[in-house]
Amino acid sequence: MESIVIQGGVPLQGSVESSGAKNAALPLLAAAILADGPVTFHRIPHLNDISTMTNLLAWQGADVIYDDKDCLTIDTREANKPEAPYEMVKTMRASSLVLGPLLVRFGEARVSLPGGCAIGARPIDLHLKALEVMGAEISVEHGDVIAKAPNGLHGGRIFFDQVTVTGTENILMAAVLAKGETVLENAAREPEVVNLADSLRALGAKIEGDGTDTIRIQGVERISGGDIFTIADRIETATYLAAGLITGGDVTVTKTDPKLLDAFLARVKEAGATVEVGDDFIRCAAPERLQAVNIHTMPHPGFPTDLQAQFMAMMCVAEGTSLVSETIFENRFMHVQELVRMGADIQLDGHTAVIKGVKKLSAAPVMATDLRASASLVLAGVAAEGETVVSRVYHIDRGYERIEEKMRSLGANIERHYI
Ligand code: UD1
Repeated sequence: MESIVIQGGVPLQGSVESSGAKNAALPLLAAAILADGPVTFHRIPHLNDISTMTNLLAWQGADVIYDDKDCLTIDTREANKPEAPYEMVKTMRASSLVLGPLLVRFGEARVSLPGGCAIGARPIDLHLKALEVMGAEISVEHGDVIAKAPNGLHGGRIFFDQVTVTGTENILMAAVLAKGETVLENAAREPEVVNLADSLRALGAKIEGDGTDTIRIQGVERISGGDIFTIADRIETATYLAAGLITGGDVTVTKTDPKLLDAFLARVKEAGATVEVGDDFIRCAAPERLQAVNIHTMPHPGFPTDLQAQFMAMMCVAEGTSLVSETIFENRFMHVQELVRMGADIQLDGHTAVIKGVKKLSAAPVMATDLRASASLVLAGVAAEGETVVSRVYHIDRGYERIEEKMRSLGANIERHYI
């Protein structure tokens, strides 16, 4: 068992580089299934979720070649198994991103239906309904989604009842090779969706409107291989900025994009931080004491649910009472009881957490429950005086590249223990 051990209480200072975004890289890798040639991916982070996706593509018969540090090439022309088995989907729900691309390319796909996860039920019914509109026949057998479209997929008008990020990406990819025009309404506007659309366009796809809630795709016969580039990880960027702020420090994240983090930066300014941005860096310096600020999570450009836990950790030591409302996932408060173990004063009232700021958190052994919850515990740990041990760190490794090394470069006293 691995754990992360932190001696907290030191203000973090300095500068750290952002990695490529996990949530952008996953759909980009799945898009390789559509390409009629090798695709070279740049700025791919080294994360367990990324290996899950590349292993899945290799299992399907693709050639996966690691070129150098954060660059890899995938050629799916020889792939011949349009499937994603349970073993792979159960460890990472985003494996279901291969469904749309496999179905449009092979005319059939068998993808295990993801189960629930720590933060909620997270069904993929909206992905399936959209594929039905595009002519797929779908059934669920033995836990697998079986999708068939022997005559190929066709375009159509798809209205998502709820904004879904991977749903938008899945259907966008299917529509690229479907016959005719597909219009996605109430589409996700997340930067990762725009990164996917930009990349597919570079390979020859015809897409307009990404970044708005209506995306239009004209199906094309084929898309080629080529080079594609992952955007900076906005969630990782904000996590390191929050680490600086929660410890009363001053942290700069480089190789990032301030435009991706408007909602977060607005809230931290409100909390009293000094924020400085350049084209590709963000610096946040802590005030004497952070002030309480309310947030509620929303689809982009609102406050991201993937930063809710980290923001809450900061609010635990802010002056005053803040309300943190989670509107995207029904059960994304697993970090609350762990933060309470570290001395935080938090009451849960349905989808809202009421946080009364305390002067200091106190170190404690805590348990990571999901990816972003884990990050909030690391933040609480670097702020708290004494030794915090975060166990079940495999959650963190799904989404934070070299987290101890990056935290150490900012002055944190943090190491991994193997027991
Ligand atoms: C993606 C992100 C995840 C982030 C989330 C919300 C990736 C790999 N993951 O997850 O980090 O927290 O967006 O920003 O990009 N829903 C349905 N039916 C569906 C699809 C979704 O009811 O078919 C619901 C979900 O249960 C949830 C909400 O819609 O309540 C939003 O989920 P969605 O945007 O789909 O999240 P993911 O794409 O899985």
